[in-house]
Amino acid sequence: MPTTTSSASGLEAFSANERLLSPEDKALAECLIAENQHHLYSGWKNPGVDDDKKLAFLKCLRSADQSYPGGLPGYIKNARVLLAAAATGSNPYEGYTPEQPDIVDLSGFGADYAAAEEAGLAAFAHTAVVIVAGGLGERLGYNGIKLDIPVEVTQDTTYLAHYASVIRAASHKLGRRIPLVIMTSMDTNAGTLATLAANNNFGLEADQITILRQELVPALADIDAHLALENPCELIMKPHGHGDIHMLLHSTGTAKKLAQDGVRYLLFVQDTNGQAFNAALAAIGVSEQRGFDFNSIAVNRVPGEAVGGVTTLVKPGSPNLTINVEYNQLDPLLRATVSPEGDVPNERGFSRFPGNINLLVIRMEPYLRVLESSQGIIAEFVNPKFADASRTSFKKPARLETMMQDLPKLFTSGEKVGVTIFDRAWCFSACKNNLTEAADKAAKNGPPESASSAENDYYLAGRMKLRFAGMAVTDEPEIPICGIPFTPGPRVILRPSFALTLAEVNERIKGGTISGASTLVLDGDVRLENVSVSGGASLVISAVPGARVTVKNLNVSSGPGYLLEQLSADEMASADVPEYLRIRGYRITDRGAKKFVVGEEGRWEIDAGGVRRAG
Ligand code: UTP
Repeated sequence: MPTTTSSASGLEAFSANERLLSPEDKALAECLIAENQHHLYSGWKNPGVDDDKKLAFLKCLRSADQSYPGGLPGYIKNARVLLAAAATGSNPYEGYTPEQPDIVDLSGFGADYAAAEEAGLAAFAHTAVVIVAGGLGERLGYNGIKLDIPVEVTQDTTYLAHYASVIRAASHKLGRRIPLVIMTSMDTNAGTLATLAANNNFGLEADQITILRQELVPALADIDAHLALENPCELIMKPHGHGDIHMLLHSTGTAKKLAQDGVRYLLFVQDTNGQAFNAALAAIGVSEQRGFDFNSIAVNRVPGEAVGGVTTLVKPGSPNLTINVEYNQLDPLLRATVSPEGDVPNERGFSRFPGNINLLVIRMEPYLRVLESSQGIIAEFVNPKFADASRTSFKKPARLETMMQDLPKLFTSGEKVGVTIFDRAWCFSACKNNLTEAADKAAKNGPPESASSAENDYYLAGRMKLRFAGMAVTDEPEIPICGIPFTPGPRVILRPSFALTLAEVNERIKGGTISGASTLVLDGDVRLENVSVSGGASLVISAVPGARVTVKNLNVSSGPGYLLEQLSADEMASADVPEYLRIRGYRITDRGAKKFVVGEEGRWEIDAGGVRRAG
């Protein structure tokens, strides 16, 4: 029991509560008091008063201590160093000159794309998918976990179902179980476990999935890193950021175990990016081809756009650093160094520093090394809002944070960092904003990043695939829905069981047309030869594993099939309408889609005469 402190520190009542403390609590209290955290234990009430609160507080301290490498004393020490740097306002990029990073441009579908995708498909057998899904989603304001939101409401496929379907299809095709890691948090853990249980793990084996739960970290009250209290015996806890994924992959031994199981790459995906797997295989292929240890999937951005730019920072005597530089830091850095005009566009109108979308391919071997040396604590930072010019007190408590894309800050052995650029709608369209904020962004010509724009882009990617394969695709003109642009069709859903790569789409689609507000859904080993869908009609072909279905010369032109209907003002305000519809402003209802479901193995043919076994 820390009785060494004088009564001036106000620890008498705390000492009187000794029986509440386990030996572990006592040891921790001694360490924390040694770190000048007396305030945590002063202000305790006499024994017998609010003992439950005291016990909860001790538990909270223990858990925060256990979940941070180096424990709470380590957290406080790290905080002091970072806060001191923040107080002096030191420039983190002092002495660095920005240069364009090593870029592979796959924004078009050519021979390079095909080669990358082929290499990536093979390497995907040795990849684990890591979804960071601990975020609060405050901007979206959805009452549930984001992974449970449907990416499309034609067949209501949720983000998690979609991601799992890619993993299932690829595991089947490649003959190797692809592991899935999901990082959850206090806010999302129960919901994620519940949705996995309710959906039989979306067809994945239970031991194929690892759940890593991130914990909150204590908030910091001032420049001396005093842990912030809401009340006596109540710590203020805050999220530590998605960089926690590295710490958890390390501290739980998950990264090591995956490596032992033959995993060579980790693919990091956000919770609501339905486009991720359009580009991911080609990006993994680029990592293989170019030997990238860290490969950021990125998009072209125009100078000044509010997206971080991936930049190579060069400083004599230091290893080059290729990292995401926030857009508001990039322009001043350029002006102060190599470009007095700031971030200027290239001949295509884009910045030389492509936009980071937090879709990352990391090679396992250097990753394990960095995890070992850093304990998985990746480039923490602190962003205090100082109360006054003395820069010692804060307007509100701060906390240490980490971002998963900052891993290259710890590369010191010549690791190769590169960037692969894809067409934006092809690789990234997240569901982050509520309708009001999204409409506001759309009005300013920015990406709305709403549930509706994400669904819009999901269908768009389907059309891009059909066009690539040579089908004639005619879009219905765009309309606004709740102020957000939406193309009503064709709405094209090509399931991963149908094709994982563009090459497979090309192999399975021969000729044909699709136009207007029509819908096409292909699921399983399906081939289309001269198939036409028009006039708002809908065609769904689904084949069980082992069935191979060829659809020939079929013309589906009578609607309405899947009908898109905007929600009325009353419906938008009604709790009876599912929230996942109200966050997009429309529903899609099946009014008679033409469906062929082949439920038996073997070869089948479908034409105007119906379904029959082939040959
Ligand atoms: P976002 O930037 O979308 O943040 O996170 P968010 O917390 O989910 O949403 P807002 O800002 O409250 O509106 C990018 C990705 O990182 C994950 C999110 O779940 C998302 O997939 N994330 C974020 C975590 O896993 N943990 C965190 O602490 C923060």
